[in-house]
Amino acid sequence: MKVLATLALVLGLILLNIGTCFGDLHVGFYKGKCTNRVDVEVIVRGVVTARFNRDHSIVAALLRLYFHDCFVNGCDGSILIDGPNSEKKASPNGSVRGYDIINEAKAAVERECPGVVSCADIIALATRDAVALSVGWRWKYDVETGRRDGLVPGNVDLPPSRITVSQSIQVFANKGLTVTDMVMLLGGGHSVGFTHCSFIMDRLYNFNNTNKPDPNMSPFLLTTLRSRCPPTGARDNQEVDLDQNPFSAFVVDPSYYQQSMMRRAILSVDQELAMHPETRGLVASMARWSGFPEQFGAAMTNLGRVGVLTGNQGQVRNRCNLVNPITTGNSTPAIANKASTSSTTAAAANNTSTNAPSATTNSASTSAPSNGAANNANTSPVLGDINPMA
Ligand code: HEM
Repeated sequence: MKVLATLALVLGLILLNIGTCFGDLHVGFYKGKCTNRVDVEVIVRGVVTARFNRDHSIVAALLRLYFHDCFVNGCDGSILIDGPNSEKKASPNGSVRGYDIINEAKAAVERECPGVVSCADIIALATRDAVALSVGWRWKYDVETGRRDGLVPGNVDLPPSRITVSQSIQVFANKGLTVTDMVMLLGGGHSVGFTHCSFIMDRLYNFNNTNKPDPNMSPFLLTTLRSRCPPTGARDNQEVDLDQNPFSAFVVDPSYYQQSMMRRAILSVDQELAMHPETRGLVASMARWSGFPEQFGAAMTNLGRVGVLTGNQGQVRNRCNLVNPITTGNSTPAIANKASTSSTTAAAANNTSTNAPSATTNSASTSAPSNGAANNANTSPVLGDINPMA
């Protein structure tokens, strides 16, 4: 009896071990997986650094790309797939940038270590590097790797620009993310980059159909933005920095929190964050820089765990914009892939949904206004373009 109990215990421990290690994400997943001690993280960093040196706006591009990838089908690189029903073509992704950087990094990695590194991981690594470059490598967070690439584009159902904080809390919770994660991600994310005027016109001229501006916008900011975004004329392509501090418009830092406390946040959700009872305390504390790098890094890690595919799920794409043919044997069927959005990690443990709640379903309007593409109706698991090289 005692022997049996011991055997059961040992077997249980072995199974537990398999469960926590196999297919799981961890920092340094690719160490030792390439020949000649190739360090894939160094290769990605090289590509991102070269691009950053030419164009600091890639920080914003990659941050948004990472967010839009992870919130649709989980962090599976599905945003990168080309095709008529691709996520790229969906209206909410109309102004997403940075695909070429990921493709370039992937090509560089493939040259040294073919068929090993997923595109989903390259997005996560490249985004981290861009963030670190924006602060001159004064701080950086570690990136867990081990994600696999998805086989299908998802239904692009992202939070709309006029979402309220309460609705946003719900949307993030549906992805297994906390209020703290949300405040950190919005704060860090919107401390760089720009928005198009169309997303803030109502705040400037007709807030809640009052024919008046948003009373929560500082008069100084209102004047500045009105001159940038006039009520008539070709204003839709005009861009406005999300961080109104010109010295930190390209730096991922807590300036967003400081700006929103001065009623100088650009998007309505960003302004409301400084006033909502569930978020204003953290905004005030972040405005004093208390632990921003650590907390932002933790939130980025949690975002990177949402709905990931690991182990034998999905595939490692040969090229990020094309799904490998299923016959290669390194992929599971499309349906299984789509259903397997739950993560083995704690943050995403509850996340099986790729859809935002009803609050967000009417308008997925984070897209560029100039993009005339019809909203994505990818409700069925349609394969994207297939990589003919594979
Ligand atoms: C409730 C959630 C969110 C909403 C409603 C939202 C909304 C928006 C909108 C309307 C824009 C302007 C897009 C344009 O004009 O083309 C934007 C830009 C941006 N967002 Fe968000 N966002 C959210 C969350 C996030 C998160 C979590 C991140 C990153 C972690 C992020 C990163 C960015 C960045 C970096 C830009 C600038 C992009 C660029 O310069 O190309 N956003 N967002």
